[in-house]
Amino acid sequence: MEVIIQPTADAAALLVARLIAKHLRAKPSLVLGLATGRTMERVYEYLTEMHRREKLDFSLCRTFNLDEYVGLPPNDPHSYRYYMDRHLFSRVNIDRRNTHLPNGAARDLAAECRHYEELIRDCGGIDLQLLGIGADGHIGFNEPLSALRSRTREKALTPATIRQNAPLFGGKISAVPRRALTMGVGTILEARRILMLVTGAEKATILAKAVEGPMTAMVTATALQLHPDCKVIVDEAAAKRLRGKAYYRWIFKNEPEWQEFRAAPSIRRARSRRSR
Ligand code: F6R
Repeated sequence: MEVIIQPTADAAALLVARLIAKHLRAKPSLVLGLATGRTMERVYEYLTEMHRREKLDFSLCRTFNLDEYVGLPPNDPHSYRYYMDRHLFSRVNIDRRNTHLPNGAARDLAAECRHYEELIRDCGGIDLQLLGIGADGHIGFNEPLSALRSRTREKALTPATIRQNAPLFGGKISAVPRRALTMGVGTILEARRILMLVTGAEKATILAKAVEGPMTAMVTATALQLHPDCKVIVDEAAAKRLRGKAYYRWIFKNEPEWQEFRAAPSIRRARSRRSR
């Protein structure tokens, strides 16, 4: 695992977008694992801008999202399918048939989860998986005590996650679905590369547990410590409680693989429709 500290949330999101762009240029048919949530909005704005200004090409890219709420059809404005259409898919030249999310409105949810795993396998597995982290340390919707070998399945959300996501439902806790379909921790760990983005002071404590704490199913993000190619990109605010900060800074300053990312490019985010 490598932890890279950037001065601001914006700089951290830009670095994640640049890393994704680098892999997409190297392999246009990249199988990209995607996440939703507020942290990712900036990344998708930067990718949109790179598509517009630098002709970043998504035409052959295939995507698999981590999760979807149970009971919400894809056209529900609170569904993750809707989120992805709004923040990325409708704004770049991706073929919608190449974009996949578990269907939370499927009649047989267990069969839907099995099918999702098969689809990922049929595409040759995920090349690069993007992750955020929840207030309770979840990745995807792998809530505390999710098996570290779990596969795509239906999961009950914790009260902490329901509270965390309530602002996206107009602040109404009662409106947040209680269950979701999510890739398992085992599914996530099979991705060839993992990129986790964590920003904001409110994530500082859970980030320190995830990255520097003992591995435990109580904080499913700690399972990332097992992954051979996992990069965790954070801003200063989220890095506040990390003990190894000096070493992480040294890595970014000195390791040759980061050289091309040390100079800040002049790209601006395309402002999201909501913030217009
Ligand atoms: C979303 C997902 C979640 C979020 C996490 C952080 O698809 O899988 O694990 O990445 O809950 O969400 P934000 O960015 O809203 O704090």
